[in-house]
Amino acid sequence: MKTSPGDLTQFTIPSNSCRLRVGVDRLDNAGTPEKPPEIEPNVSSPLADDIPVAQRESNDSAPKPRTNVALLVGSLAALGLVALAAGSFVALRLQNAPDTLATENPAQASPTDSPIASPTVSPTADTLLNHFAYTEAPQAELAPIVPDGSLKMRKAAAKAFRDMTAAAQREGVNLVPISGFRSLADQKYLYFDVKADRNQDATERAKVSAPPGYSEHHTGYAVDIGDGNTPALNLSPDFDKTSAYRWLKANANRYSFELSFPKGNRQGVSYEPWHWRYAGDIQSLKTFYKARGQK
Ligand code: DAL
Ligand code: ZN
Repeated sequence: MKTSPGDLTQFTIPSNSCRLRVGVDRLDNAGTPEKPPEIEPNVSSPLADDIPVAQRESNDSAPKPRTNVALLVGSLAALGLVALAAGSFVALRLQNAPDTLATENPAQASPTDSPIASPTVSPTADTLLNHFAYTEAPQAELAPIVPDGSLKMRKAAAKAFRDMTAAAQREGVNLVPISGFRSLADQKYLYFDVKADRNQDATERAKVSAPPGYSEHHTGYAVDIGDGNTPALNLSPDFDKTSAYRWLKANANRYSFELSFPKGNRQGVSYEPWHWRYAGDIQSLKTFYKARGQK
């Protein structure tokens, strides 16, 4: 079987006998965070060395100059210590700031960027390999999105999805769900087993598949959508050339669906024109936007 990025491969998940179709993407937004410039504290030579020996060793008959020299040495030493402490503090701040900005968006660490650029993701957000942590939706909250019940979404999202596909169908567009809610076991298979099968390292795999516990599919709000009229492009970046994608771009917001991983997304996840998430009630909105530093 061909394994070019546009190809599809089917995998059987033993845990629940559910078949998931997995596509492979190219990385289109990778980058290595720039290292901040290393700033060395400016350490001076010992101040006492600058004082002439004659003055340091004056005799008892001239007590006043000796007192002045001692005072001068003490003051200069104190000043030096204060300057050293301030320098170290500034150096520490400069070293930490670019790392924080680069965590989710390497491009923001670029020195050419606007100084007011803010990080996409709160530094305190629970992320792994640029994916956010999500908990599994309870089974009782799920509803089927296909007649045989093999694919499910949260109830509100499932209704919106069914309404959306019906509207598309009326315009001759065939939206086909490929993957909806996924359990931790499903995602464990997709991340670790497929990673091993394809000889990928953790970072490489994370560009196309989230680690278990970090996939939007756990929430029951995410759905991978294909084009029933052009199935060869399903789960491929070229899905964006299909009538299904064009229809979604024009209409999905009406049903509260939005693209999770557009081109150049700030998470650095590969472009996934097929992966849409529901953000049409307060719970889904909080799930995707709260505590991410997004307004
Ligand atoms: N493909 C997306 C990133 C996921 O695995 O959740
Ligand atoms: Zn997906």
